[in-house]
Amino acid sequence: MEIIILPTPDEVGRVAAAKIASVVAKKPSAVVGLATGSSPQGIYADLRRRVRAGEISFAEARGFALDEYVGIPLEHPESYAAVIARDVVAPLGFDASRVRVPDGRAADLEFAAKEYDAAIRAAGGIDVQILGIGANGHIGFNEPTSSFASRTRIKTLAPSTRDANARFFDSPEQVPTHCMTQGLGTILEARELVLVAQGPTKAAAVAAAVEGPLSSFVPGSALQLHEHATVVVDEEAAAGLQIADYYRAAAGRSAN
Ligand code: F6R
Repeated sequence: MEIIILPTPDEVGRVAAAKIASVVAKKPSAVVGLATGSSPQGIYADLRRRVRAGEISFAEARGFALDEYVGIPLEHPESYAAVIARDVVAPLGFDASRVRVPDGRAADLEFAAKEYDAAIRAAGGIDVQILGIGANGHIGFNEPTSSFASRTRIKTLAPSTRDANARFFDSPEQVPTHCMTQGLGTILEARELVLVAQGPTKAAAVAAAVEGPLSSFVPGSALQLHEHATVVVDEEAAAGLQIADYYRAAAGRSAN
């Protein structure tokens, strides 16, 4: 695993965006795994700058979102379908027909989840997956005790996740109770993982995911099983890391 510690959240966004941009520059038809929430906003902002500057184009790329709430109306501004359309598809110039979000409104949710996994495989698999991490260690909405072998499926959101996401809704009760999320096994099949975290509320989760034991209690620790995972964090999110000096030294060497 490569751990990159940077002074500010802006730099986290820029450095992580450079990783995504390099995949898309080499393969314009790349399949990009898309996270929502606050963490990847800096990535999307920097990618938008690169698109405007003509450095890269997402016109031929494909996208698969990590997750979606169950039962939320499609037109709700906080459905992940709406968020991905607003924050990713339009500003980055994706072709909307090449970007998918799990269908949290399907009549047969189990079938829709299986079909989503199959669609990722049919697209050739995800080339680069953007990830954030929850304060409880979740990635996607794989809450603690999610199996490392799990596939896209329905999960119950942890109370702490619903509390954290209440900021996007008018009242905490409006936060859906369930979601459809790519599984940890699905996420681990992506060819490259780029996880970003900023701020002190993520420090314990980052430390547990990066340096703690491999445990389904910390779903982010699944990254330890991946051959090509990068964790990009700011100083505050890095505060719990025991061997931060080593990561800094290693990053310095690779930059020379
Ligand atoms: C979002 C997702 C979640 C978030 C995590 C952190 O698609 O899958 O794992 O990345 O809950 O959320 P923020 O970034 O809002 O702190």
